[in-house]
Amino acid sequence: MDGKIEGVSEHAPERSGAGRLTGRVAIVTGGGHGIGKAFALRLAAEGAAVVIAELDGAAGDAVAAQLVASGAAALAVRTDVADKASVDAMAAAAVARFGRIDVLVNNAAVMATVPMSRVPFDQVPIDEWDLMMRVNLKGAWLAACAVVPQMRKQGYGKIINMSSTTALKGSPQRIHYVTSKAGILGFTKTLALELGPQNICVNCIAPGSTLSEEQPDETLIKFRTAAAAATALKRMQKPEDLTGALVFLASADGDFVTGQTLVVDGGYFMH
Ligand SMILES: NC(=O)c1ccc[n+]([C@@H]2O[C@H](COP(=O)([O-])OP(=O)(O)OC[C@H]3O[C@@H](n4cnc5c(N)ncnc54)[C@H](O)[C@@H]3O)[C@@H](O)[C@H]2O)c1
Repeated sequence: MDGKIEGVSEHAPERSGAGRLTGRVAIVTGGGHGIGKAFALRLAAEGAAVVIAELDGAAGDAVAAQLVASGAAALAVRTDVADKASVDAMAAAAVARFGRIDVLVNNAAVMATVPMSRVPFDQVPIDEWDLMMRVNLKGAWLAACAVVPQMRKQGYGKIINMSSTTALKGSPQRIHYVTSKAGILGFTKTLALELGPQNICVNCIAPGSTLSEEQPDETLIKFRTAAAAATALKRMQKPEDLTGALVFLASADGDFVTGQTLVVDGGYFMH
């Protein structure tokens, strides 16, 4: 986004890769837009081969093409994380192409690209409640089920789930989204306990309000600006602000960290 926003610094440092994931293979669900796209670019910059598992096939293809053009190894697989056959095909395609799966980033969600309603709790459409749970919760579970057999064979793996600070503090007008992100917290801890003996680490990132939309309108910018003003760092959070936490959890640096929720929000929710 261009232009200075009153009261909020626009500083967002560029981050370059240091090869911390050379030889690793990472799957990013929902890697065609927003935060998932920033994750895919950073994982590739760190040397990983990246599989973009995205519902929006054209967006997934575009990110993969961008990575390949930059010299990285990448594959786009059109995936609906709410569909078991689709998610199983995603894992099979990753193994067929790259031979292993080291990292799964459960990032796909109903949020911005597939939009959610922001309405009082009793006005959430029932179909949207069900879709939210199918994508945000069941999708993460199905993807874990699909990749864990390969990770077990390797005796190594990292699963990183996306929660949200809204799940830690509550957030009105989107109870279905917040409920799904709260579910991810328990999902992460339980999966960490079950997979720890196989040397598979399971962690969670809880971002604050992040300007992930490709074409934000004025209302959204106001909303994110207000959120930024309430943080310690006083600047708007961008997708790139989350990539360092991801690389930490995905790389050997995080090998003894599991079952944790890492809040990355510029100092809003402190615990
Ligand atoms: N932006 C924020 O303020 C914020 C804050 C906290 C947490 N998060 C979390 O970060 C993650 C990324 O969010 P974002 O802001 O980039 O939103 P986004 O909507 O741009 O990204 C979600 C991606 O998931 C894809 N997707 C949706 N349904 C899918 C499905 N069924 N199968 C596969 N892919 C599917 C979308 O096409 C999109 O590329 C989400 O898990 C979100 O809950 C975002």
